[in-house]
Amino acid sequence: MTREDAVQAEQSNGILVLTVSRPQALNALNRRILAELRSRLLQAERDDAVRVTVITGEGGKAFAAGADIGEFMDLADEQAGREYARHGQEIFAMIASLTKPVIAAINGYALGGGLELALACDIRCASERATFGFPEATLGILPGFGGIERAARLIGRSASLQLMLTGMPIDAAEALRLGLVDRVVAHDGLMREVLALAARMAEQPPAALAAIKECLGRGMEAEAALFGRLVVSDEARSRCRAFLEKRRR
Ligand code: COA
Repeated sequence: MTREDAVQAEQSNGILVLTVSRPQALNALNRRILAELRSRLLQAERDDAVRVTVITGEGGKAFAAGADIGEFMDLADEQAGREYARHGQEIFAMIASLTKPVIAAINGYALGGGLELALACDIRCASERATFGFPEATLGILPGFGGIERAARLIGRSASLQLMLTGMPIDAAEALRLGLVDRVVAHDGLMREVLALAARMAEQPPAALAAIKECLGRGMEAEAALFGRLVVSDEARSRCRAFLEKRRR
């Protein structure tokens, strides 16, 4: 871990914490950070020692204040802009499709691409100081990393359009009310809360967690098939047997 690392990684007890580390730009997501997030998450997916990943931002001020607006100016033509968005979409879709849980620990601004990153995670916990919003329209653009669809699915069409069509920020209490985040906690207690949640998930068998995530959006057929596969597994047999034996004692 060095000062220049754009994404710092710390791992213990099956929990990997990835910290977007560019505080001087409020952790704005530039190409390098996106590439590092991608490679670290793909590595975590392959590493049996990682059970749960937490994504957060360095410093007390921002989770990520958006995609890097400076990089937009380097996009020479429509084609370059489209490819830029496709690239971000692919990375965030990869995050959303990981078999292991990913929790966003939102410690400050989650704006634009930063909010899209949080939306690609499975669960969102926020500091009471966090601020949320989609300011893209105020820049004459739109959320291009999959956030339009993800926000609408999570909080509904009109609530997400309200955020996107006005560009107005909302506070953590309002984000909780809308269902944009799952928990809001005192700023200083955020990581403690998130790590406790992650630890609880890390205790569960990875195959069960992966199957539950896989079922989402795939309907009852997939649910039955994956239930069938899990219920006869050694892991499930031994856990169910342990439960029954404890009851008998
Ligand atoms: N892209 C690039 N740089 C960004 C950035 C972004 N999305 N968000 C913040 N920064 C940079 C600022 O340019 C500034 O850099 P500088 O010190 O070299 O001037 C630094 O981060 C600190 O930001 P600053 O605006 O001075 O902080 P603030 O506390 O006054 O305001 C915000 C905080 C979040 C309200 C403000 O930074 C902001 O509106 N950022 C852009 C949010 C946005 O539109 N995101 C969507 C992009 S898709």
